[in-house]
Amino acid sequence: MQKLIIKGKKALSGKISISGSKNATLPILAATILTKNVLVKNIPLVKDIFTMCELLNFIGLKTIINKKKNTIEIKNNEKNIKTFAPYKLVKTMRAGVLVLGSLLTKYGNAKISLPGGCAIGTRPVDLHLFALKKLGAKIKIKDGYILAEAKKGLKGTIINFPSISVGATENALLAATNAKGKTVLKNCAIEPEIKDLIAFLKKKGSIINLKGRTITIIKRKSILSRIIHNVMFDRIELGTYMIAGALAAKNNITIDKINPKIVKNEIKVLSKIGVRIIEKKSSVIIKKTRNLKKIIITTKPYPGFPTDLQAQLMILLTQVNGVSKIKEDIFENRFMHVPELKRMGAQIKIKNRTAIITGPTKLSGAEVMATDLRASVSLVLAGLIANNKTIINRIYHLDRGYEFLEEKLKNCKAEIRRV
Ligand code: UD1
Repeated sequence: MQKLIIKGKKALSGKISISGSKNATLPILAATILTKNVLVKNIPLVKDIFTMCELLNFIGLKTIINKKKNTIEIKNNEKNIKTFAPYKLVKTMRAGVLVLGSLLTKYGNAKISLPGGCAIGTRPVDLHLFALKKLGAKIKIKDGYILAEAKKGLKGTIINFPSISVGATENALLAATNAKGKTVLKNCAIEPEIKDLIAFLKKKGSIINLKGRTITIIKRKSILSRIIHNVMFDRIELGTYMIAGALAAKNNITIDKINPKIVKNEIKVLSKIGVRIIEKKSSVIIKKTRNLKKIIITTKPYPGFPTDLQAQLMILLTQVNGVSKIKEDIFENRFMHVPELKRMGAQIKIKNRTAIITGPTKLSGAEVMATDLRASVSLVLAGLIANNKTIINRIYHLDRGYEFLEEKLKNCKAEIRRV
């Protein structure tokens, strides 16, 4: 099994280009079930994207990945379609459940494996099913599968989500674009990745309007025979490298191929801690940082501080003066990185859903184990500033979502290698 070995305490400087967003690409790929020919550009070459392509191929579409150009061409002749997503393809990647909305609305039925729990929490899909039922689907759960049916097609309606979910909003959006009449989704997630999905669906011909947390969708016939879509940048990857810069930049670290306006809140939080960030039109520059200040923060749906940056932020907070607090408001079990960080010398206590971090502490290299995608990258960040060598096991988690991580860090003078 592969491991990452990091020799810490190297001063970083240089340039990092941000890849396309994994979390934006996944629902767009699920949406290609509703289209004919699509070219998706700026896709990240990461495991989850390959798994989604495998799932689309299984369903009966043809996906052609061009690794040199970071594109996927999807051909959908709508013949021999299986409205089925097996356990083996959904268990490693929850986003597989997003094909449910597309298959059901187009073919009137779908059998999709329940994704099950994962390290960061139980992660149910009740909100996805709630929305689809409101659109007229009949749903049963049998033998670990969701069996959904809408013989006469789905019908537009008003759906008020009882709580905010990214995946449920995406599944409802996908289903609603092919439902009869008008659908109004209230209390939606409005993550930038959802706006990217909306931009894609509009190219397909749907009329979609977003106002506050309400999305209105009206079905229209497809107007384009071929859709070309450029996926947005990965804002979580950007946040991760901004924190890497805050921790270890000697001179400037420039991070480009981004739009700083989309991460306004993250920049505000980091600036409040004392990180020196210069914003440009399509890049940010992280300066050498001293005298970091403590903070109290809660993770929230966008535009709040993302749960997907909670673990990385925690590394930064081990280096600030005083006692900081992070409340994890999205997932009930997302502090799996804490025991590993404690083994590296971090002073962190967990009280219910809050992590209390006392800093500054010197971290020392250790052999540690990655538990999920973002937890893994937080261990990389810790390794960058720790004394001696850090060995990170189970890095297949990292490969699910970070494109060229070692190369990008090595370009900034980090000492990191995969064995
Ligand atoms: C997406 C992101 C993930 C991110 C998360 C929150 C993708 C592929 N993944 O995951 O990286 O961490 O948003 O920003 O885009 N919930 C329910 N019932 C449901 C659905 C969700 O109770 O039917 C709960 C979840 O357990 C969680 C909360 O709602 O506590 C938010 O989850 P959700 O926004 O749905 O996350 P995902 O779409 O799975």
